[in-house]
Amino acid sequence: MTIDGWDPARLPEQSGRVIAVTGANAGLGFFTSLQLARAGARVVLVCRDEMKAARARAAIQRLVRGADVSVVRLDTADLGSVRSAAKELSALDRLDVLVTNAGIVHPPRHRTVTADGLELVGATNHFGHFALVARLIDVLERTPGARVVTLGSLATRLVRLDADDLQLERRYTGWQAYAQSKIMSWSFGLELDRRLRAAGAETRALVAHPGYSITGRTPLVRGVNEPSTVERFVDNLQAVFTQGKDRGAWPTVRAAVDPLAQGGDSFGPRYRVKGAPVLETPAAVVRDPDVAAAIWAESERATGLSLLHP
Ligand SMILES: NC(=O)c1ccc[n+]([C@@H]2O[C@H](COP(=O)([O-])OP(=O)(O)OC[C@H]3O[C@@H](n4cnc5c(N)ncnc54)[C@H](OP(=O)(O)O)[C@@H]3O)[C@@H](O)[C@H]2O)c1
Repeated sequence: MTIDGWDPARLPEQSGRVIAVTGANAGLGFFTSLQLARAGARVVLVCRDEMKAARARAAIQRLVRGADVSVVRLDTADLGSVRSAAKELSALDRLDVLVTNAGIVHPPRHRTVTADGLELVGATNHFGHFALVARLIDVLERTPGARVVTLGSLATRLVRLDADDLQLERRYTGWQAYAQSKIMSWSFGLELDRRLRAAGAETRALVAHPGYSITGRTPLVRGVNEPSTVERFVDNLQAVFTQGKDRGAWPTVRAAVDPLAQGGDSFGPRYRVKGAPVLETPAAVVRDPDVAAAIWAESERATGLSLLHP
């Protein structure tokens, strides 16, 4: 299947390149890692649970002969864990692509705060990743043509952002927390690219979203994705507007390795919720430079880290 010259089943050769994926033990992160390993990349699974990460690593090695896969421990909701993971990742000889995929997709009903005092969903999905990028900017910049790929969502089109309440102290719902975290991730990806260019850096940032990708429509992978018969049945009832997470990984993989993709590009499924990965025009809110500035300022305050100032 080739769409505007890109075939997700025939990726450009990636041997010699190092790609780190957060939340790589399950779902989209696992399939992103698997597809990139298949293309020959050395893949680093950046995961919070070592047992789950070991199972994902074993699965990739089972499915891709000779795959070079390692694990780094990271809980994105813990800034101390981000510091340790970044130290390990910075010791790599190169980092060609960092995919910030980890995320809470089923947020708690009530506002929850991390040990660092941040709202949990925003901390997990965005602030932790902001801190990770801030701490990895040197290794990225010393790797020619490096990319950061952040994960957005269709949810960015469905809510109004309150840029004065990014920690959701005034009004919390699980849905608002999730959608807002994805607005922050997408906006951050686009602003990161603008700031990298302004700084004269060669590193680029791109964004991807997977449409609507669900477990029960995803291939069985022993130890990683084993949905029950009921989950398969229920999820297949939604077949018209969903896809598996193997396909949901396609836009991320394209953003990571399409040689023709440009910094600042966003990729999503051709039919919004499903389909081949194509260039997408992001929602107005994530293209708004004032919103991006507010998110950047709050990210620096929340993490205590400064990133890419003129
Ligand atoms: N599926 C969709 O349709 C969809 C749509 C739009 C956007 N997305 C985005 O795609 C990304 C992946 O979603 P998914 O559907 O693949 O979800 P998933 O199957 O639930 O996988 C989420 C991954 O993130 C990890 N994670 C969660 N909290 C973490 C933390 N504090 N530290 C480190 N890792 C953590 C999970 O690890 P554990 O296994 O340890 O929990 C798991 O590996 C998310 O950013 C999500 O917002 C998904």
